[in-house]
Amino acid sequence: MRLAPMPSLPDIRLYLAHPGSGLRRLLELDDDSDESAAGPLPPYWAYAWAGGAVLARYVLDHPAIVAGKRVLDLGAGSGLVGIAAAKAGAREVIAAEIDRNGVAALRLNAQANGVAIQICDEDVTAGPPPAVDLVLAGDVFYAQDVGQRMMPFLDRCLAAGIDVLVGDPGRAWLPRLRLRLLGEYEVPDVGGNGGGAPKPSGVFSFQLKSRN
Ligand SMILES: C[S@@+](CC[C@H](N)C(=O)[O-])C[C@H]1O[C@@H](n2cnc3c(N)ncnc32)[C@H](O)[C@@H]1O
Repeated sequence: MRLAPMPSLPDIRLYLAHPGSGLRRLLELDDDSDESAAGPLPPYWAYAWAGGAVLARYVLDHPAIVAGKRVLDLGAGSGLVGIAAAKAGAREVIAAEIDRNGVAALRLNAQANGVAIQICDEDVTAGPPPAVDLVLAGDVFYAQDVGQRMMPFLDRCLAAGIDVLVGDPGRAWLPRLRLRLLGEYEVPDVGGNGGGAPKPSGVFSFQLKSRN
């Protein structure tokens, strides 16, 4: 992994994958693997995804959204959204990530950026809403099963009075009918060892289900 400034977020430095990182070996099952029956999780944390990049950009450009607040970075991966929130003045940042390698990565990335982030390595989506004011969900609708876990949790957060912002480049499982667009940016997406081409991506407010 190489520590480098992010193209769309030069204020944030992340350890990101490159051709020599050898991350493929993480996909080979080892004896002490405690991952699910589906096998080890892909190293999503080794890349900055467009959904997280756009949300991080938006937060840095609109610090009042997080300033003084308790923030949950849901599906944190590298931690870039939580790092942006901490840099923009959040009072407390919790990063929720279920991949143990991701937890290690986001700890290193937080250190590299000089910010304090609490880590939750349990599946928060299975429980009650956490004690936060705002949930930031960067690129968590990349797979149907993941999106299906996120939705009821995000609904419980809304019901508890917690605001939810989603960053996404328009993935297939994005719940468009529940989203209101707040801003758009072109940001790089995952691709070719992390160096994907810029893609129009949006920041959305997650809305209560309409009664009609
Ligand atoms: C596509 S990546 C996005 C990472 C980061 N937010 C970004 O935009 O670069 C989604 C991340 O969500 C994590 N994830 C999936 N389900 C989760 C859950 N139930 N709780 C916490 N994290 C989860 C995955 O392990 C993965 O690291």
